[in-house]
Amino acid sequence: MTLKYLPEPFRIKVVEPIRLIPFEERKKALQNSGYNIFALKAKHVFIDLLTDSGTGAMSSHQWAAIMEGDESYAGANSYLRLADAVEKVFGFHLFVPTHQGRASENILSAILVKPGDFVPSNMHFDTTDANIRARGGRPTNLVIDDAFDPKNHHPFKGNMDLAKLKAFILETGVEKIPLGMITVTNNAGGGQPVSMENIRAVADLYHSFGIPFYIDAARYAENCYFIKLREPGYQDKSTLEIAREMFSYANGFCMSAKKDAIVNIGGLLATKDDKTFQKIKNELILREGFPTYGGLAGRDLDALAVGLYEGLDEDYLQYRINQTAYLASRLMDAGIPIIEPPGGHAIFIDAGTLLPHIPHHEFPGQSLTNELYLAGGIRGCEIGSVMFAVPNPATGEIIYPKLEMVRLAIPRRVYTQSHFDYVADTIIEIAKKADTLRGYKITYAPELLRHFTARFEPL
Ligand code: F0G
Repeated sequence: MTLKYLPEPFRIKVVEPIRLIPFEERKKALQNSGYNIFALKAKHVFIDLLTDSGTGAMSSHQWAAIMEGDESYAGANSYLRLADAVEKVFGFHLFVPTHQGRASENILSAILVKPGDFVPSNMHFDTTDANIRARGGRPTNLVIDDAFDPKNHHPFKGNMDLAKLKAFILETGVEKIPLGMITVTNNAGGGQPVSMENIRAVADLYHSFGIPFYIDAARYAENCYFIKLREPGYQDKSTLEIAREMFSYANGFCMSAKKDAIVNIGGLLATKDDKTFQKIKNELILREGFPTYGGLAGRDLDALAVGLYEGLDEDYLQYRINQTAYLASRLMDAGIPIIEPPGGHAIFIDAGTLLPHIPHHEFPGQSLTNELYLAGGIRGCEIGSVMFAVPNPATGEIIYPKLEMVRLAIPRRVYTQSHFDYVADTIIEIAKKADTLRGYKITYAPELLRHFTARFEPL
């Protein structure tokens, strides 16, 4: 018998009840939230696809490891177990735990970035972008152009454009580039992977100019699995071997462990440079905690040590990538425009194309996000003009992003295939009456990161 997909490689030992509240209550909840799904109470959400970060289900092994947590302030056994896993998975022995990814980014920016510096990457995630800016630096995105075409099936749409990177370094001058980065997978560009060939070439280029190379490793395991599936020469390598090779090219990495390490909280920051490590520890002690626990409890370190391996488990990764691909294929079969091919952790619906009658300034992504909640109690997230439209500082004219998207991020090991059939059916029903959806106007918005707290009214 050939199966189209592997069923979930786990069975369910603990359940968390969820409930679809009636339509009239969803309407009221959305109105009370100012038509912003960030202000909804989680208990009013049926299927929560707001993020895949910290929302995964830990395994029985991780929960068992939590009971072994050693809460000693310094040198705890939990730290030693984490150090062993970090060494085996990434090949790094100089590292600190942090409470989450942005804490690692803050420390890295604090010690390396000066005002006027530049930090290139394929695409920076928004917290990395903001942490570099907070130190007066300028994050620069140099992903290949294919990344911006939703129908382009490049197998590694997260790749850095090497010609652009080289030209950028020559133009900017190495003295203004304290570090270079790459994000695997490229979240801001649709969760698209980066090839090993590209990582190697990026590392070589940075190193030829003497620039240290740091990986944003939030979704390292999904990226490794895509390399195994798609890159010639890697089919017979294990994802662990692929991870070891990938990180061997880097001088360091920062990581949110809330994604591929399948923990609810945690992060890592690692380097190969002794002096940088000394500075990292000093900064960590100031803001997060002693270097053997970072901002975490001992038990969190143990869950993370186990999660680093579980994230790389190939049965799990096959299920994970297929689950995302399954939802994508149901939507594509019904003609719903999404970013193709689907990435690892999320589906990005092209709301601008689905709702062509709603202009940028009336927020098509917001309209679709809110309709998803009204129609099915599903929480996705607008990634379009609400999040990214900014006034041109010179003219005041609004610059709109290229794509108006809605992200459906998939928590790890949380929802089953029937949940995804329900999500797909709901979206297909919405698409049938797409021309009846209306835009929104903003009634309140703060100046920075407005999507989190803005309020809206339907037009
Ligand atoms: N880097 C990437 C690529 C991310 O996707 C995130 C978080 C971070 C860094 C920051 O990590 O949240 O632990 O501080 N992404 C989440 C998301 C929030 O929903 O995509 P953090």
